[in-house]
Amino acid sequence: MAKSKKIVIGNWKMNPATLSEARSIYSKIKKSASLYKKVDTVICPPTLYLSSLQKSSETSVALGVQNVSLQEAVGSHTGSTSPLMVKNAGAEYVIIGHSERRANGETDEVINKKILSVLSSGLKVIFCVGERERSHDGHFLEFVKNQIHTGLQGVSKKALPNVLIAYEPVWAIGAENAILPRDLHQMKIYIKKMLSEFFGPSMVVKIPVIYGGTVNPENAELLLLAGEIDGFLVGRESLNPKNFATILQIANSIK
Ligand code: PGA
Repeated sequence: MAKSKKIVIGNWKMNPATLSEARSIYSKIKKSASLYKKVDTVICPPTLYLSSLQKSSETSVALGVQNVSLQEAVGSHTGSTSPLMVKNAGAEYVIIGHSERRANGETDEVINKKILSVLSSGLKVIFCVGERERSHDGHFLEFVKNQIHTGLQGVSKKALPNVLIAYEPVWAIGAENAILPRDLHQMKIYIKKMLSEFFGPSMVVKIPVIYGGTVNPENAELLLLAGEIDGFLVGRESLNPKNFATILQIANSIK
């Protein structure tokens, strides 16, 4: 999946409140995405809206979901939605391990099982990692390493190109300021080095590393350029079609 093309993913979280609002935001995003062909645009709406947005789509915007249940297919699992179901409903991507789900008790082990199940269903994984806080002793580096190590246990080299790492420091999500570009760059190098250790140097280029946490039209360019990352996972600004379009435009203009 890794390539010079940037990828910009919108995580709508539990928004908006109605399908008609979702349709309206989505159709505006589709229009702007069609202008910026050097960017892969992905929208992850609430699962409930997935089929309706898919039906109205003849566009390059791919769809994803923000979570799935552990069970792969169909069966007696009240309240669950399987990878197979979201795939059949038109999703190509699944966000796994977002900090807001980790805060609800999702462990690295559960995340690992979900990643394996999502990959075996033929979907792509947006695997979120990131420290809750940064201390001077550098413990956060070890923390992120463990998240990645456990999360990707058992993933085959064949499946790895369907994994994308979204580095999202928890302290920068829904915050006033994003990470400093130089700190992002350092973390990106660290993650790539770690992937090389785990899977071998040839796999590193196949796994994009993107950033999420207060990405907006003001900071997008510097984060992409100085951070040398492959794209973004955007929360709040992905519900604002105008600002999201500006982020797409910036990503489109960077080689
Ligand atoms: P934010 O959210 O852009 O609103 O900080 C990012 C995320 O949680 O993925």
